[in-house]
Amino acid sequence: MTKSRSSWQSNLGFLLAAIGSAIGLGNIWRFSYMAHQYGGGAFLIPYLVALLIAGIPIMLLEYGVGHREKGSSPLSFARLDSRFEWLGWWMPVVAMFGIMLYYSVVIGWCVNYLFFAFNLSWGNDPQAFFFKDFLQLSDSASILGGIRIPIAFSTMLVWILCWLICFRDIRHGIEKASFIFMPILFLLTIIIVAWTVTLEGAGDAIANHYLRADWSKINLFAADPVVRKGAGEVWAAAFGQIFFTLSLGFGIMITYASYLPEKSDIGKNAVITCVVNCLYSFIAGFAVFGIVGFMAHSQNASFADAIKGGPQLAFVVYPKAISMLPSMNSLFGVLFFMMLVIAGFTSGVSLIEAFSCSITDKFDWPRKRVVTCLCLAGYAGSLIFTTRGGLYLLDIADHFVTNYGLILGGILECLLVGWVLQAHVLRNHINKQGSNIPAVWNLLIRYTTPLILIYLLYLSLDADLAKNYGDYPTDQLILYGGGWLLVCLLAALIFAFSRWEAKKLKRRHLPEEDELLV
Ligand code: PHE
Repeated sequence: MTKSRSSWQSNLGFLLAAIGSAIGLGNIWRFSYMAHQYGGGAFLIPYLVALLIAGIPIMLLEYGVGHREKGSSPLSFARLDSRFEWLGWWMPVVAMFGIMLYYSVVIGWCVNYLFFAFNLSWGNDPQAFFFKDFLQLSDSASILGGIRIPIAFSTMLVWILCWLICFRDIRHGIEKASFIFMPILFLLTIIIVAWTVTLEGAGDAIANHYLRADWSKINLFAADPVVRKGAGEVWAAAFGQIFFTLSLGFGIMITYASYLPEKSDIGKNAVITCVVNCLYSFIAGFAVFGIVGFMAHSQNASFADAIKGGPQLAFVVYPKAISMLPSMNSLFGVLFFMMLVIAGFTSGVSLIEAFSCSITDKFDWPRKRVVTCLCLAGYAGSLIFTTRGGLYLLDIADHFVTNYGLILGGILECLLVGWVLQAHVLRNHINKQGSNIPAVWNLLIRYTTPLILIYLLYLSLDADLAKNYGDYPTDQLILYGGGWLLVCLLAALIFAFSRWEAKKLKRRHLPEEDELLV
């Protein structure tokens, strides 16, 4: 260690920051839409299984690695085995340039809508308002069509806010912000959920569409091969969602855990982070299903016609429902979009932190300068998603990053820890801190989790090769999807290529593992 590393002031501060990273836009609409599409209450079974056999074990792995090696992902991986340093770079590079660039734009939309909510500017036709007036969506992914100034402006506000927080050290920046914003987020969510469930039609939708299970959709052993294949997809989606929602595979949790004090109960922290995040999704589901139910009821439409996925759920369905509320529409709208903005930007700061910490670990440049340059470059990069064709690019980038980048990162980190470091070494380290992780964790990290993730990768590849994702033209998919990931890989290799100061790579002396010191 060259100089002493910053640290969290309290374990609660760490937990709030990690939960802030995990709870994001994905918890609010991605989860609910999946639950609807994949069998309502029955989806909760694969979701829980995925949480138990992939979510919690990999969270333990990331916390354990960060805590043991006391470094961002490149530093930690380089300390474990220098041949894997590139992986340690690839994860935060993808986080910063694969996700944050478009994630910040979506939070920007939420900021715009927060203001629109004051006078319900979306009018009677929120769908036309969103696509035609607000995004001014171009005809195809190959037509960028110039920057939309209001979106570029709100995206700038998002970057400034993230910059203000990341600029300061961990205690005064991310930790303090988490102490302020996470309680507000929980409070807003409780208000929105409580308000929604009292609306007419909400209870029905929750009981019949959210909590009622369609078991056939998850039956992997069904006699009918079509049902079986469909069930396979549901299980794959559940694993993908767990990975995304827990912010795993980006080096974020490794970085956050590297700021933990020497003695800290990794096992308890990992379980709390995972459980709070997933409970949040489950509870937020009441608000989403409730509001769609209310809308369907008010319009005499069916639930299936009223619900929509992706951005449309927040920017078309919600505004429509908000306008229909019997009273205090604007207040509801403002609270709802404020909830999205806070959920989003606490995830955003973690994406920036993972990368800026990697840079400061390796090059020892001053944190403030690194964060400032990164935020400027990040904002410049995100402008491409604020163009009239931005929604298409965002959709493509998101598909490739979540289905390939993230899963690949997860597989490789399991292999690194499971086989190169040896799972039991990390387990011993974690258990020395007072946790009690059972030996089955070794098996999960070495075999089960990577095999499942490899299967997921195969499923995505198979589907994408059979049919162009979203029917986009192949050249656009290659450019903004695969190409983007490759550029990130190239950048990772370049970062990994430069040499470390030798003393930084020396593994810290861990008394219980003397025999492992090289
Ligand atoms: N976990 C966040 C969500 O559910 C998204 C996210 C992914 C944030 C990866 C950081 C890293 O929305």
